[in-house]
Amino acid sequence: MAKITAGVATSHVPAIGAAIDLSKTEQPYWQPVFKGYEYVKAWIKEQKPDVIFLVYNDHATAFDMNMIPTFAIGCAPEFKPADEGWGARPVPTVKGHPQLAAHITQSLIQDNFDLTIINKMDVDHGLTVPLSLVFGQVEEWPCLIIPFAVNVVLYPPPSGQRCYDLGKALRKAIESFPEDLKVQVWGTGGMSHQLQGARAGLINKAFDNDFLDRIIDKADELAQVPHINYVREAGSEGIELVMWLIMRGALNDEVELKHRFYHVPASNTAVGHLVLENKPS
Ligand code: DHB
Ligand code: FE
Repeated sequence: MAKITAGVATSHVPAIGAAIDLSKTEQPYWQPVFKGYEYVKAWIKEQKPDVIFLVYNDHATAFDMNMIPTFAIGCAPEFKPADEGWGARPVPTVKGHPQLAAHITQSLIQDNFDLTIINKMDVDHGLTVPLSLVFGQVEEWPCLIIPFAVNVVLYPPPSGQRCYDLGKALRKAIESFPEDLKVQVWGTGGMSHQLQGARAGLINKAFDNDFLDRIIDKADELAQVPHINYVREAGSEGIELVMWLIMRGALNDEVELKHRFYHVPASNTAVGHLVLENKPS
């Protein structure tokens, strides 16, 4: 049977992708950011997941004001890196797992989470930057990846509780897939940031660190934080953090914290990163 082995959470700032692509990672501004990812880069080589279920948000790239699904699952065999205005990032095409994605789709929809099925989609920095941070510059991504896009761009976003509950249903879905697969669930985006308006540049270290504390072993409580608190306290883009609750819901109640990292700033954003391993339930 498929098994969820671990969860990874990380911010997805596009400038981090540009720093990697343009060989700027050793520059004084970027060096402390990338230092925080040395642990995960070594860890993932030992873990060797077969599949990553990667929860992220599209930033008006594949979807726009014409059509925005709240929860969308990528069921295609592959997903190309998107052109977000400067040409596509020089990163590998994402290879999906259509059979597992279809199984998860059936299980989640029958568990009352009405997903949108995506059979063709380019993936933006929300998905490719986390992959680059963890795997570095590679010819091929070393595992299969199922993209799972959450709307946190056009109001209203799904609640933290809905995301956490979806994570729990996702656990059941993955663990009922008959093939022996090591699956990781990643939650991406955040932490505090606001890119526009009067509060552009907002960072809230206290909010972010409380979120990092509570997602590890008080996630039930954290899930109850209403969306308006994220927007007020972590900025209009801080709401991306609800995606981390899908990752956390998919893990066991008890997890082992392997790595925690927080750094301000990267571009306009507070970078947060967690590596969590499942403890046997
Ligand atoms: C930035 C952060 C994001 O999460 C994003 O999607 C776009 C830009 C930034 O800090 O520049
Ligand atoms: Fe973003």
